[in-house]
Formats: sequence, C-alpha cells, structure tokens
Amino acid sequence: MPDALVGLDVGTSGVKAVAISPDGELLATAEELYPLSTPQPGWSEQDPEDWWRAAQACLSRLPDGQIGLSGQMHGLVVQDRHDRVLRPAILWNDQRTAAECAEIEQQVGLEQLIALTGNRALAGFTAPKLLWLRHHEPDTYRQIRHVLLPKDYVRFRLTGERAIDAAEASGTLLFDVANRRWSTEVCSALEIPLEWLPPVSESTQIAGAGDQAAAALGVGVVAPGMLSVVLGTSGVVFAVLPAYTPEPRARVHVFCHAVPGTWHAMGVMLSAAGSASWLRHILGADYEPLDAEAAQWRPGAEGLLFAPYPAGERTPHADPFARAAFTGLSLRHDRGALWRAMLEGVAFGLRDSLELLRTLGVRADVARVSGGGARSQLWLRIVASALGVPLERTVSQEGSAFGAALLAGVRAGVFADAADAASRCVRVLDRVEPEWDYEATYARYRALYPALRPLEETT
Ligand code: XUL
Repeated sequence: MPDALVGLDVGTSGVKAVAISPDGELLATAEELYPLSTPQPGWSEQDPEDWWRAAQACLSRLPDGQIGLSGQMHGLVVQDRHDRVLRPAILWNDQRTAAECAEIEQQVGLEQLIALTGNRALAGFTAPKLLWLRHHEPDTYRQIRHVLLPKDYVRFRLTGERAIDAAEASGTLLFDVANRRWSTEVCSALEIPLEWLPPVSESTQIAGAGDQAAAALGVGVVAPGMLSVVLGTSGVVFAVLPAYTPEPRARVHVFCHAVPGTWHAMGVMLSAAGSASWLRHILGADYEPLDAEAAQWRPGAEGLLFAPYPAGERTPHADPFARAAFTGLSLRHDRGALWRAMLEGVAFGLRDSLELLRTLGVRADVARVSGGGARSQLWLRIVASALGVPLERTVSQEGSAFGAALLAGVRAGVFADAADAASRCVRVLDRVEPEWDYEATYARYRALYPALRPLEETT
C-alpha cells in the first residue's frame, strides 16, 4: 500500500498538487503558476511545456506516492509523429471557433449530434478546435498524429503512455457519452482520424478525470441528491445522473462521471471567480476589503445588476460574443456596490444552470462547494440564497487535486471504489444556509441578457 496519494491538477492558472494519507489527511500541498496567453481577442492558449515544468516542480516538493491526475478540460494539444507538440494548446475558454461550431452542427445535424454525443457544439470543446486548425493552420493540421488533453499530456510526459478517461473524453464532442467510447460516427462525419485519439478507460482504472468530475468526487458528490458547485475561474453546477439523460436541446452538458457506470449533467459559466479577479484588478483592491465594502449593501445593491459574461458564455447562453455589463448605476453606488452586484450576478448565472438541471429531474438537497471563490463567506451566503440550497464546504479545499488523489487511491487498491474513497476521506467543514430572498432580483437579472444582446450585435 502506498504511504501517500498524490493528486495533481493541471489548472488554468497553475498546477495544484496535494499529497494525502490513505485516510484523507492532508500531508502536503504545492502550487506552481504559469501564464495564459491571449494573442488575439477571444483566444486563450498555454504552452504545454509550462504544465510539465510546473508538474515536475510540484512533484519534487511532495512525498512520493501513487499519482492521480485532473486538469482543465477540453483543451487541445496536438503532437506530430515524433511526439513533438505542434503549437500552443488551445484552452477550454478560447472562443475562436464560433464558425466551426456552426459548421459541425450543420454537417452532423444538431439533433443527430445530440443523439450521438449528448451535447451540442460549444466553442470551448475540442472538436471545433481541430476544425479551426484545419481551416486556419493547414500546415500544422497536416502534421497531427496525436491529440491529447491537458492533463493527459502531463501523463504522457510522466509515463510515456497516451490515455484518456471517459469523463474527460466526454468534453471533446467526439465521444459517444451514452456508450462510453469514441464516436466513430462523429469522427467520420468530421473526417477526424480515430487513430489520433488515445485509448479510453474509466477514471478509476487510470487514476485521472477532467477537473469537474474530479472536483465532484473530491467533495463527495458520487450520487444523485447532492450538487457540486465550483467557484473557480469557471463556475459550475454539477449533478450526478442516475442514468444517461441528455437534455433535449443540450442546454447543459451531459458527460460521463469519474464514477464508473454513472453520468453527470452540468452547467458551466465561463467567468465565476474569473469575473471576480477581473473586477478586483480594475478596482485595485484585495478581496477581503472588497467583500467588507460589499457587505455594507443590502441584497440587490439598490437595483445594480451585473451580467457576468466578460469572456462570452456557455451556460445558459451558448454565446461566445456575450459580454459583461453593469446596469442600474446611480450616484449612490460605490466600489462595494459594484463588487456586491458582481458576486450576485455570478450567483444568478449559477441559478440559471440549476434551473436547467431541474428540467432533467435533478434533486438539489445540498451543494458541496469548492474553488477559490469558496473562501469568501459573503459569496457563499449570496450563492446559497440565490440557489435556495444550503452550501457545505469540505475540510479539504483542494477540489480537483483532492479528487485526483482519491482516484489514485482507488487505482492502487487503497479504496474499494470511488464511493468508498469519498466516504472515507471527505469531511464537511461548515454549512451556509440560504438567508436572503433573491427571487425579484433574479427575475430582473433574467431580462438582462436578452436586452443586452442587440447592443452587442452592433459592435
Ligand atoms: C468544464 C470547463 C471548465 C474547465 C476549467 O466544462 O470547461 O470548468 O474544466 O478548468
């Protein structure tokens, strides 16, 4: 039996790593940051070599142990026949592929695409990125022999093995989510060679999962009834499905979970803590004082609303061109009011996702919350109130990295399965109950996006 289980999360801002004991005690953590490059508006890229360097640096600071991986989903890494990386990776929050998404939905047919993959073509997904390369960088495209996703590239550098888990593969749009295998139909319709894609396994077999499935496992969300809410750069509301249940219009993602034989549905906002770090930068202050100033304002901040789309949106508006806005500004509003409206706007975006999940019959008795934004008590009170669901924080705040460590433990035989890992290692720290009535403010918020849309189209 290994003494330590190590979880490595290849995130958007950096690699986060944890080492835990087989009963879930935190032994050590490490973090190594790297830059994100936006060479053109809407583009988002990283150098895979940075992930590898950061992963090595983190591992060198942790005890040796069985390693599990998680990472930012959907990103595209392309390698040539010598395993050389052909260009910077195109990330999950990159918005360049609107035309390719339209092309895919036309070529395959939207209904057929949903029938084959459970999902629709969204700009951040992997398949549209491949088509974009075919159109815009044909020389690069011609040299592709292998496609990997971010954390699987790190696995390749660690072990020389090319592999992917069903949870991660679900976000490529090349995957038959119902049957947990690559979709030969979609690959052939889009003329993407199956040989480029790595073999697929369950998360517990290869100790790896896309970050959302890993984060859910890391907070103990392994069965229906409990949500995973993530306040990371992206904002996520995630529910386990008892059976494969695609949303008829694919307004939420339906993916394989890291727990074999189960699926999950989730709504993904592109800018949750991403909106917070953007606004904090502009306001030139730290999180704690901004929270304190925001707490001086009553819920609803005297009519000030924030549309939380500074980087386009995925759920509930599949719209790379959506943009953020403050509306209802008055002379009384100050920095704290702007901050409060931003926290509330993101919370309402999460509520939009919850409403869509409910159409699939999802029950939400309680939500386990993780991600950097969960450090803000005020934000937790706002999110619990906007969702109308109590939020629980767990002792480990390491989210996806903790889930990856649990997967390492399942693979090593420390735990019988994912549910056993969660019940032995995940402990609740505290609980925040819904406190404010946001229904009227949420109704006004819902009118924001349709009202703003025509303004964006003219720019
Ligand atoms: C999930 C998604 C994001 C990234 C963030 O579909 O795109 O949550 O995984 O790392």
